[in-house]
Amino acid sequence: MKVVTDARELPSACAFVPTMGALHVGHASLFRIAKKYSDNVVASIFVNPLQFESEEDLAKYPRTPEADIEIAAAAGVSYLWLPHQAEIYPAGFAQQSAGPLGEIYEGKSRPGHFDGVLTVVRRLFDLVKPKWAIFGEKDFQQLQLIRTIAGDIEIIAAPTIRESDGLALSSRNVRLSPEGRKAAQIIYRALTESKTEDKLRNILASEPAFTLDYADFIDEKTFAHAQSTTQDLRAIVAGWINGVRLIDNMQMGSRV
Ligand code: PAF
Repeated sequence: MKVVTDARELPSACAFVPTMGALHVGHASLFRIAKKYSDNVVASIFVNPLQFESEEDLAKYPRTPEADIEIAAAAGVSYLWLPHQAEIYPAGFAQQSAGPLGEIYEGKSRPGHFDGVLTVVRRLFDLVKPKWAIFGEKDFQQLQLIRTIAGDIEIIAAPTIRESDGLALSSRNVRLSPEGRKAAQIIYRALTESKTEDKLRNILASEPAFTLDYADFIDEKTFAHAQSTTQDLRAIVAGWINGVRLIDNMQMGSRV
């Protein structure tokens, strides 16, 4: 694996996995999926200041550079790109707007977050010019928004990787206390045991350590609240445990 800081050293027509580092098994699975599309797997690590709500949140984001290099190399990354901020955000760079889909659910709780995500992803795409880009389904709203700016790049959705008790892998999980980590099982339980939105909310409410932000059934194509006629249902959940924001989602098939 080659570690580079300048995008001009990257191969063209690669399979690309953008990340913010703090790599874990979930990222490794994205790299392995990328490898199925191309021998040239490019991963980037850039902690994007534009997608954090506050300086404090940005500072709290875990940074594990040595482990990241090992995980990327072991999972088949050919080029690990560590861009400098000046390359990503030169003077006068174009800001993207995520539009109305960027203002609901995650976007409502984290104003400006998706504008920041789309701005960085657009810049990363422009610099790397990949043929494929791989994103986890765990950040389902992010995945759908990125599809809107992808142009000719094929966006590949990768399944959520879970701990043995079902908790979706996330770089934020390390910030949970042991009790919080145990309480976090409620999210997967609620998603797998619920056929209705009421049941989903009731199960989540049974865990006192979990503070709910939203638990909704949506049309996964439009993010509109599910109706009795909705075909492609997805349950989406967000909330906090120990002040750590946790999100998850699951396909619910179609309503009968
Ligand atoms: O999902 C992430 O890690 C980030 O939002 C992304 C897509 C790398 C943009 O900074």
